Amino acid sequence: MKQKLIITIFGATGDLTARKLLPALTKLNKDRLIEEQTKIICIGRRDYDHASYLDSVRKIYPDNQDLDRIKPNIIYFNMSIEKQTDYFKLKELIDDESFEDTRKIYYLAVGPDLLEVISKNINASHLIEKKDINSSIVFEKPFGQDLESAKAINELLWGYFDEKQIYRIDHYLGKEMIQNILTVRFANKIFEDSWHNNSIKSIKYIVKETDGILNRGGYYDTSGALKDMVQSHLLQMLALVSMDVPKSYQSDDLKEEKVNVLKRIRYDKESLIMGQYEGYLNEKNVNKESKTETFVFLKAFVDTPRFKGVPMYLLTGKKLDIKESVIIVEFEETAEQHKWHFPLKTNKLYIKIAPQDGISLALNSKVPGLSDDVESVELEYCIACNSVGNMPEAYEKLLLDITKYHKRLFTRWDEIEYSWQLVDEIKQDFVASSKSLVTYKNFDELKKLIKEKTNEVF
Ligand code: BG6
Repeated sequence: MKQKLIITIFGATGDLTARKLLPALTKLNKDRLIEEQTKIICIGRRDYDHASYLDSVRKIYPDNQDLDRIKPNIIYFNMSIEKQTDYFKLKELIDDESFEDTRKIYYLAVGPDLLEVISKNINASHLIEKKDINSSIVFEKPFGQDLESAKAINELLWGYFDEKQIYRIDHYLGKEMIQNILTVRFANKIFEDSWHNNSIKSIKYIVKETDGILNRGGYYDTSGALKDMVQSHLLQMLALVSMDVPKSYQSDDLKEEKVNVLKRIRYDKESLIMGQYEGYLNEKNVNKESKTETFVFLKAFVDTPRFKGVPMYLLTGKKLDIKESVIIVEFEETAEQHKWHFPLKTNKLYIKIAPQDGISLALNSKVPGLSDDVESVELEYCIACNSVGNMPEAYEKLLLDITKYHKRLFTRWDEIEYSWQLVDEIKQDFVASSKSLVTYKNFDELKKLIKEKTNEVF
């Protein structure tokens, strides 16, 4: 029998809840992966009732066709997150719904400025007791706004909760191909043997989006691409690709190796490009003189024996040419390659994260037939094309793992700490430098700039 479950979501009137959390819970319910009667307590400031709350959710995200399935499980709870007395009322509601061993998950789908007040009140109202192994608290990224604020929040959390109760989300870690990185690396001799600076020439980490900031001006304008994307998703990708062989595949051993990478990243100041898309200043809730970046490019190095000297390029931005998240590992030329009388391409491994997940590998091959020419061909593994079916969304996997107390796909404090350290350094260097934000209309202009700086083609 599945454990009785109550999920309480703070920030339930926001985009994340409507677009990701409720659809994921709907799917888990449909697939019977969580207990059918699981209660979902949706907390908001607005004066909704059950029906008008669901209408508001549908308005933000009409695509969740199955929302009705979990309709009876949803309780909308109107409260002020600042008022401690409201937390006591919330506790009464939760106590009424619980049995002794009910699993209780508190999900903070809110901006970093609210983590502190909510955690404090959860603690003060005894919603979570430190020794209660069945209660967990989940924090969305970004965890803090810089190293200092992140440290302060973390210290506070450690005072209130046990580390075992804390889940820090980076939803990229729940994506199928991000989970697959270690398998591709360590379960394939051809890669495992060549995964170092003798064989790898460069690695690109690319997360491009076509959308702008949508309705998230209030949050985004205080954040920007460095804090919103590089600090979390891109550095996590880099850590998984660059880490050494872990002692075991247990959560803490993996994290040890990721941290060893994160603390050894050095970036090349000269390479840094930060941009803002044209029209950003007219977006809702954006300061008219905002200097917030919506695009970042940089070259970095990981100073470990395995990867010393290998350039790693990080690129992310909004309003670019296509939506694509991909890691491109480019291998060195072979010693023989120069003997051919025409230039050969290098081998490239593409770890495709989205929109279509899969892997492709570019190899050199003779053109079939009478010619002696050589061409670059691609071996392709496409998950969707192989009709493995619809891959679960990252949030399904992450929520399910929380219900099972699995911590491998969540970030540990020191990963966050070293990521902030680097991001703060980049931010401060940029402000102190004479560089200015590039205003871009399209990706072509940025591509040209990158080519001029690094000779790399994106
Ligand atoms: C989020 C960022 O973490 O990731 C958003 O806050 C961004 O700004 C999103 O759009 C991208 O995620 P995905 O899964 O669409 O690649």
